[in-house]
Amino acid sequence: MMRGLREKGSAPVTDSIKTAKPEKDYSIYFQPPSYREAKKRGKEDVRVHYDFRIADDLRTIGRGKLYHIQTYGCQMNEHDTETMKGMLEEMGYAWTDHRREADIILLNTCAIRENAEDKVFGELGHLKSLKTEKPDLILGVCGCMSQEEGVVRRILEKHQYVDLIFGTHNIHRLPELLREAMFAKEMVVEVWSKEGDIYENLPKKRAGLKAWVNIMYGCDKFCTYCIVPYTRGKERSRRPEDVIAEVRELARQGYKEITLLGQNVNAYGKDFEDIHYRFGDLMADIQKIDIPRVRFTTSHPRDFDDHLIEVLSRGGNMVEHIHLPVQSGSNEILKRMSRKYTRESYLELVRKLKAAIPGLVLSTDIIVGFPGETEEQFEETLSLVREVEFASAFTFIYSPREGTPAAQMEDNVPLEVKKERLTRLNNLIAELSRKDNEKLHGQTVEVLVEGVSKNNPDYLTGRTRTNKIVHFRGPESLTGELIDVRITEVQTWLFKGEIATLHALEA
Ligand code: SAH
Ligand code: SF4
Ligand code: F3S
Repeated sequence: MMRGLREKGSAPVTDSIKTAKPEKDYSIYFQPPSYREAKKRGKEDVRVHYDFRIADDLRTIGRGKLYHIQTYGCQMNEHDTETMKGMLEEMGYAWTDHRREADIILLNTCAIRENAEDKVFGELGHLKSLKTEKPDLILGVCGCMSQEEGVVRRILEKHQYVDLIFGTHNIHRLPELLREAMFAKEMVVEVWSKEGDIYENLPKKRAGLKAWVNIMYGCDKFCTYCIVPYTRGKERSRRPEDVIAEVRELARQGYKEITLLGQNVNAYGKDFEDIHYRFGDLMADIQKIDIPRVRFTTSHPRDFDDHLIEVLSRGGNMVEHIHLPVQSGSNEILKRMSRKYTRESYLELVRKLKAAIPGLVLSTDIIVGFPGETEEQFEETLSLVREVEFASAFTFIYSPREGTPAAQMEDNVPLEVKKERLTRLNNLIAELSRKDNEKLHGQTVEVLVEGVSKNNPDYLTGRTRTNKIVHFRGPESLTGELIDVRITEVQTWLFKGEIATLHALEA
């Protein structure tokens, strides 16, 4: 938490910190994430704001000007970018793909692993010459890295050509912050540690036929390796009526697929004090809305309750794919990660899910080389992966994050060993993916057409309900349609097929 910007329990501090003097001691403003401090957070203080509006004088400020946002990290960040796009376009700015012609460039950053941060610092280095050539360019850094003390200090000291830094809790302030950055001679920094608020009615600029919908923000799980509870604040759920109204509107606009977003969607509603309404209830309500596909990410194994399983088993627009991060197959490592489930309870949950949902496809996240992970413990991960038969996985080498408990743990596993474990794990996942894909050979599956394949312009690309990629020949006009495709060729990460029937024509 970043002390100094907010006294605990008080209203958020709205002052920006402005400075151009790198020799100043900024430690009074920022502190590295503190496990003990952050865990004290309470349920008090969640306020929902419905009164967002862009000031009249800012509504035309961007006319004739261009912006570019570079997004790193997870869907949460991608969706925040859509919100920032929405605000900028209401201010008259237009998007450009070319950074050289942009009047505003924002880097929406991710802090999850060190290499994510390295990329951003590399990019900032590249942008320095552009900023020198074009002094009126507004260069901003936002997203999860901005919530970290060390990062803000490094930018203040080494990248003074940056005009604006703002945190994940300050996105709704973008229009005002841009005004400040335009007229200030100094770097504008606004990072609130305020974690309890929800801002409704922010404009959003979505693209394509799939839409993300936040159902909650923040995370209170405090897995010992993870920075997210510090960069995204405490767990807080959007009110059901606000989520449902947004999904209804998306259905009305013709979206074919939505993905409900949260760091731990199964904890949805646990923070409501006035109503008993959980993720299963929300899914049951969304099931009634006329939108063909509903996904959610990410679900934590710990809060996956039987009501939710029952709702998912009803099918309809609830797809047969669940992303269920396991992180490790070793009870000892899971304990040290503070994941609060065991190998056995995870496997039991998988058994229940597979029994309830025919054709279920599971994917996962796995960390290898957690501090002190032994060869036997790693092999327990391999055996769990084999037992569950995950169809795909995001796999990572553990990366220490400053201020998190795991960063203090002794790590005696050499990087070479970690890399070798990652390769072995990835080989196994590839083998399982291929095996899972074989099941569909010759079958006809429903595909949502996404458009012409970037890698292979002769083909259209689309996804199955289980989120697998299918390439097939057909007219581009099918983009956005749900069609039936017969699988003719199986590869490790994709299928090739041919059009069987058109749902749209059948209807
Ligand atoms: N909320 C989600 C995960 C969000 S982060 C969940 O709990 O499932 C996405 C993934 O990044 C995590 O699942 C984890 O596998 C990985 N990750 C998080 N912190 C990491 C770290 N310090 N080093 C390596 N991988 C990490
Ligand atoms: Fe990080 Fe996910 Fe754990 Fe939250 S639940 S601390 S986001 S890994
Ligand atoms: Fe990265 Fe922040 Fe998402 S740290 S993974 S962008 S929540």
